[in-house]
Amino acid sequence: MKIFDEIESEVQSYARSFPRIFNKAKGEFLYDEEGNKYLDFLAGAGTLNYGHNNPIFKEALLQYISNDGITHGLDMHTRAKGEFLEAFNEIILKPRGYEYVMQFTGPTGTNAVEAAIKLARNVTGRETIVSFTNGFHGVTLGSLALTGNSHHRGAAGVSLNGNIRMPYDGYLGEGIDTTAYLDKVLSDSSSGVDKPAAVIVETVQGEGGINVASLDWLRNLEAVCRKHDILLIVDDIQTGCGRTGNYFSFETAGIKPDIVTLSKSLSGYGLPFAVVLFRPELDRWKPGEHNGTFRGNNLAFVTAKIAIEHYWADHQFANDITRKGEYISKSLRSIVAKYGEGNFAQCGRGMMQGINCVNGDLANKITRKAFHNGLIIETSGADDHVVKFLCPLTITDVNLRKGITIVEQAIKEVCSEEKIIPGLVNYFEPQKLAS
Ligand SMILES: Cc1ncc(COP(=O)(O)O)c(C=O)c1O
Repeated sequence: MKIFDEIESEVQSYARSFPRIFNKAKGEFLYDEEGNKYLDFLAGAGTLNYGHNNPIFKEALLQYISNDGITHGLDMHTRAKGEFLEAFNEIILKPRGYEYVMQFTGPTGTNAVEAAIKLARNVTGRETIVSFTNGFHGVTLGSLALTGNSHHRGAAGVSLNGNIRMPYDGYLGEGIDTTAYLDKVLSDSSSGVDKPAAVIVETVQGEGGINVASLDWLRNLEAVCRKHDILLIVDDIQTGCGRTGNYFSFETAGIKPDIVTLSKSLSGYGLPFAVVLFRPELDRWKPGEHNGTFRGNNLAFVTAKIAIEHYWADHQFANDITRKGEYISKSLRSIVAKYGEGNFAQCGRGMMQGINCVNGDLANKITRKAFHNGLIIETSGADDHVVKFLCPLTITDVNLRKGITIVEQAIKEVCSEEKIIPGLVNYFEPQKLAS
């Protein structure tokens, strides 16, 4: 179909990696118009944690629509919103001891980030937000200022202000606690770093190349924030909703962020939905001061409520994610050991993992081959050098194994074509492996 070339903007990106016309999806599978079936290890960039067209959500949605339930409600009270809030409070927040209020923002992740940093600035009366190297928080101007990637930053057209960048965990190599540097500059009145309003962090950097912050590092970061009276924002847009094992990615570290952003898989059905959670004392918004026409996506409330009730009322789903995550780690480590020790590295946590191929060309060759063999999988990182495994959390064991095998085969073929000798250390620039 020529229409995409004719009138769709050049800004399209995933369509370039997967040049097919897709017309059907179910669970962990996508189908194109020619009837080809693809295993989906991209899952809407982390939006389809519960798979495509999850039958439980679909049934509830169909019933809601056939009863003329409200689709769009601005921020008016609706039954669907009330039931979602009830479920989120009872099943997610209370059992975890998190006392947050919830703000509904415009429906994309970047809307939630914009609201979070605006709130932090208004509450503290300070402007600067600390973000981290390789962080990704969205592409509207406020979020873009916090985003590291120069490709995205370069499109801003204006200077990106109100932010300072600090090294993420591991950025300066193993054994260096970069929160100590943050503490140092904040303790030194002559460091040139003004006291910030907040720190924003991803517990695992998704778009930045599956860089994992250690639990100790996260705890230290929280301690530095407390010591200097700075708000801690966890951007859980990609890592949240179970992706790393628990509902919130920061639970495992035992920290209590002041502000949390959630989106992507929150609705469970790929329906646009984003929220900000924060301590009630921070709720200094005046009515309507921050808004967004689509903050009342009631169809998303319906599926989000079902997702919470069905998957999070007990520990079974979380245990299953942990089990599958361990299987992914083990499999990827074994691939790395077989085909490229010293060249490749396994990275990630839970069901958010990757193979760092150090080199973007190589990673792209691998994902292209995988696509040819029926697997949709993307790269991430500054140079697109990480093959990123982001399959639905609900994937069957058989299909999980199948997807990993397709990647293994692609790596084997690419290594052979590129004459990469397993175990030959320093084939690529060695320092890149550390980041
Ligand atoms: C951690 C994080 N924050 C924010 C965003 C932006 O979300 P959206 O693309 O829905 O605006 C993303 C998107 O990938 C993300 O991964």
